[in-house]
Amino acid sequence: MDEPTLYRWLVITWMALAVITFVALFFVTAPYGRFTRSGWGPRISARWGWILMETPVLITFLVLFGISDRVTNPVCLVLLIFWMAHYVHRSLVYPFRVHSSRPSITVSVIAMGAVFNIGNGYLNGRYLFTLGPELGVSWFYDPRFVMGAILFWSGYALNQHSDRVLIGLRAPGETGYKIPRGGGYRLISCPNYLGEMMEWGGWALACWGLGPLAFFVWTFANLAPRAFKTHRWYKENFPDYPSRRKALLPFIV
Ligand SMILES: NC(=O)c1ccc[n+]([C@@H]2O[C@H](COP(=O)([O-])OP(=O)(O)OC[C@H]3O[C@@H](n4cnc5c(N)ncnc54)[C@H](OP(=O)(O)O)[C@@H]3O)[C@@H](O)[C@H]2O)c1
Repeated sequence: MDEPTLYRWLVITWMALAVITFVALFFVTAPYGRFTRSGWGPRISARWGWILMETPVLITFLVLFGISDRVTNPVCLVLLIFWMAHYVHRSLVYPFRVHSSRPSITVSVIAMGAVFNIGNGYLNGRYLFTLGPELGVSWFYDPRFVMGAILFWSGYALNQHSDRVLIGLRAPGETGYKIPRGGGYRLISCPNYLGEMMEWGGWALACWGLGPLAFFVWTFANLAPRAFKTHRWYKENFPDYPSRRKALLPFIV
C-alpha cells in the first residue's frame, strides 16, 4: 500500500474513532481535573501531564516539516506558525502557569493523549508538507484561508483569555473551584473549549484538507461532551451559578 492510500484510510479511521469517542464521552468522562477519580491507574501532576502529552505533537510536526521539500514555501511557513503558536504555548508555557497542586491527571489519559497527538501531528503535518497539494501565495487571498485565519486567531484569543481567567481563580498552592466570571464566561461555562474548537475549525478551513478536518472533528468530539458535563457540574456545585449562562454556545446550548 502506498502512503497516500494509507493516509486516506487513516483519516477515515480517525474520523470514525472521533464519532465513537463523541458518543462514549457522554457515558464515560475522561478522568482528569475536576473529574479525576480512582480506578484509572496512577496520577501525576497536571504540569508534567501536559508536557508529556503535548510535546510529542510539537516534535512530530517539526520533523515532518524539516524532512519535507516545502521548507521555503510561504503557505507552509505561515501555517507552521499557526500550529506552533498553539502548541508551544500548550506544551511549554501553559503547564507552568496552571495552579494544580494535586496529582490530577491519570497516566492512562496522558498515554492516550500522547498517542493521539502523534497520529494527529502526522495527519496534519504530512498533508501540509508532503501529501497535500503544494499551495502558492495566491492561497493567502483565498476566502477559505482568510476566513480560516480569522477564525483560528479569534479562537486562539478566546481560548487563551478564558484559560487565563481560570488560572487567575487560584492563588499558588490553592485548590478548589470558584465561579469564573468575565470575558466569555459571561455567556457560557466553557469559553476555553469553544475557543479551541474555533481554532481547529479555522485551521481546517485554512488548510482545506481531510487530515485537518479530522482534527476539528476530534476536537469537537472530545470537548463538546466535556463542556456539557462541566456546565452541569457547575450548576450542581454552585447554587448561585448564573442561571442564564449556557454550556458552550452563547444563548443556544
Ligand atoms: N484539542 C483538544 O482536544 C483538547 C483537549 C483537552 C483540553 N484542551 C485544551 O486544554 C486546556 C485545558 O483544558 P482542561 O480540560 O484541563 O480545562 P479545565 O477543566 O477548564 O481546567 C483548566 C485549568 O483551570 C483549573 N480550573 C478549571 N475550572 C476552575 C474553577 N472553576 N476554579 C478554579 N480553577 C479551575 C483546572 O484545575 P484542575 O486541574 O484542578 O481541575 C485546570 O488547572 C483548554 O484550553 C482546552 O481547550 C484541548
